[in-house]
Amino acid sequence: MHIKNNISLKPFNTFGIDVKAKQFISVSTTEELKTIFSSKDFPNKFILGGGSNMLLTKDIDALVVHINLKGKQVISKTDTSVLVESQAGENWHDFVLWTLDNGFGGLENLSLIPGNVGTSPIQNIGAYGVELKDTFYSCTALNLETLEAETFTSSDCEFDYRNSVFKQQAKGKYIITSVIFKLTTKDHILHTNYGAISSELKQMNIDNPTINDISKAVINIRESKLPNPKEIGNSGSFFKNPIISKDAFIELQKNFPNAPHYIISKNEIKIPAGWLIEHAGFKGKTFENYGVHKKQALVLVNYGNAKGKDILKLSQLIQITVLRLFDINIETEVNII
Ligand code: EPU
Repeated sequence: MHIKNNISLKPFNTFGIDVKAKQFISVSTTEELKTIFSSKDFPNKFILGGGSNMLLTKDIDALVVHINLKGKQVISKTDTSVLVESQAGENWHDFVLWTLDNGFGGLENLSLIPGNVGTSPIQNIGAYGVELKDTFYSCTALNLETLEAETFTSSDCEFDYRNSVFKQQAKGKYIITSVIFKLTTKDHILHTNYGAISSELKQMNIDNPTINDISKAVINIRESKLPNPKEIGNSGSFFKNPIISKDAFIELQKNFPNAPHYIISKNEIKIPAGWLIEHAGFKGKTFENYGVHKKQALVLVNYGNAKGKDILKLSQLIQITVLRLFDINIETEVNII
């Protein structure tokens, strides 16, 4: 086991925040993971996946365990579908491209989402009308108490909008080590109605899109709206889109008749947090070396060497202002550490 001391976590979080880990280990086998978790030498541990959904506001006074399990494979095939398995440390987008290269459909709308496969079920990642839960089959997770591997089916995961059992009862108790998806090998179900996909396909002069065309369209849209973490530090959507009651929505409409919204159920309406933040005057606002992205108000950005604490303060100012103006509470999507 190769443990490093006092290392910067800047390369390991997409926000690019420069905090230090007291100790750090990159783990590439489940046996190594078990050794670390059964040892009494490391009382405090911090699990790090792709680092794409966190804001680090302080040094980590623990052993940071970087999940670097690699490998992807087809595990079974029928006439129309396939089960594919990826180890937790695979980069999500590389995995999506691999499924597309093999002609497997289902993940194309989730192209270019930052992060790793192992953390994708935790918040049930989603984009352009598709969520991870739509193709998720099962995952294997190491129970950190018993050190036994357990299988979670889709219903065990209790998936919801940006939520799962791994953010609730199972939080901190497991490490997801691999994930299995059920994908299509023919008669792919295409989702082209959401947002800008159909107009982007038109722009690309494509009438009968393939799964690869949809992936390309999603990549084009994301690249045009969302900052590339390799260029500008960020964690994607900083906030979740709030779900409000019908009565609250009627109140909102009195002052903002054109407020965009999606009806979720009889009494639940989802409001884009990006719209609320833009109308609270924050879109494109820049403070020294951090701010709110110019093209998507839901994304907070680090223009270089920003402190996590400053970005946290900005997020709190946004929350308070949105609450004051719209009487709507917006919750963070990223984990604040
Ligand atoms: N809007 C604004 N101003 C903005 C941004 C958005 O007014 O600056 C309004 C517009 O009315 C727009 C609507 O919000 O039509 C929706 O915007 P968009 O389609 O960009 O989606 P979103 O709701 O802001 C969600 C996900 C994204 C995902 C997109 C596309 C959440 C928290 N975010 O954003 O996910 O890529 O839909 O499906 O649900 C992520 O989680 O990191 C992420 C980027």
